[in-house]
Amino acid sequence: MTVRVLGIETSCDETGVAIYDGDLGLMAHALYSQAHIHADYGGVVPEIASRDHVRKLLPLIERCLQDADCTRRQLEGIAYTAGPGLIGALLVGASLGRALAFALQIPAVGVHHMEGHVLAPLLEPEPPLFPFIALLVSGGHTMLIEVAGVGRYRLLGETLDDAAGEAFDKTAKLLGLGYPGGPALAQCALHGDAGVFSFPRPMTDRPGLDFSFSGLKTHTRNLWQHHGGEDQARENIAAGFQAAVVDTLVIKCRRAMQQTRSAHLVVSGGVGANMALRRALSRTGRKHGWNVSYPRIEFCTDNGAMIAFAGYQRLRAGACEPETIAARARWPMAELHPV
Ligand code: KG4
Ligand code: ZN
Repeated sequence: MTVRVLGIETSCDETGVAIYDGDLGLMAHALYSQAHIHADYGGVVPEIASRDHVRKLLPLIERCLQDADCTRRQLEGIAYTAGPGLIGALLVGASLGRALAFALQIPAVGVHHMEGHVLAPLLEPEPPLFPFIALLVSGGHTMLIEVAGVGRYRLLGETLDDAAGEAFDKTAKLLGLGYPGGPALAQCALHGDAGVFSFPRPMTDRPGLDFSFSGLKTHTRNLWQHHGGEDQARENIAAGFQAAVVDTLVIKCRRAMQQTRSAHLVVSGGVGANMALRRALSRTGRKHGWNVSYPRIEFCTDNGAMIAFAGYQRLRAGACEPETIAARARWPMAELHPV
């Protein structure tokens, strides 16, 4: 049985590595963010991302092994993000992970990036127990999922257009707040008054658990054209936009919890690092009698620890893939097998 797993994450602009041991837990993790490189371009440039993963991945693995006081030979499995994501970036982690597994004659498994996010809160002390509802809010996805166990996911709702993180990024860009947009917009919103401008709460007036965030972006653009140029307007628009996204997510979570009669909500993905969202969800959970779990802030955004952990769950259950390098830019979660 595989107990010690090296996890590799290279699906976008973060190189993440971690070692997870079934007995000892998370032994080490290391992250290198390329965000400052892509900032000049206002978004991730795929080719630059792949090339930088090539430069950073091996040194990061060496550092992680040292931090864990572990040799390569003590590794018993390798988990790498196989999708969804930027195909060139994914291939860097997939080929290195696969090659390392071949050289060490240990099993390797390609992990679904969103499964990594879903399971990330299980790395914390007092982890949530199955079943639970997961709100996954990242740069590429916004989903509500009923989680019965590892690999047992039922999609309840998702975004019909922009993901929540994408809406944060595009709105931040519009307001001249730079990249990455989410944290910058949240910071700007701290100084604003959310009540100055009115924002819609998209798709909350009709039944269902799907989301739509592209209208908010257009609404913001119109407001900014009318009131733009002043710092105060920027701060008030940022605060109003953030409040609208947070409210919308809270309303849909409340609805999902009611519909499924669940008692535990798990929030994960980059937007899960947003403090206004965490506060609002925790407050709503207390009011309605459900628990809310989050990963620590650094494991909300992309990281190697969640991939090592998700890979551990699958390798422990006997998953072992052929010696081919597999990566998929698109990969519906519904195709995952239960463990
Ligand atoms: O999960 P993640 O690191 O990468 C993807 O899988 O997409 O999520 C990145 C997204 C970006 O859109 C970023 O702007 C957003 O998460 N984000 C935030 C915050 N921190 C990261 N959005 C709002 N508030 C934050 N504090
Ligand atoms: Zn992610």
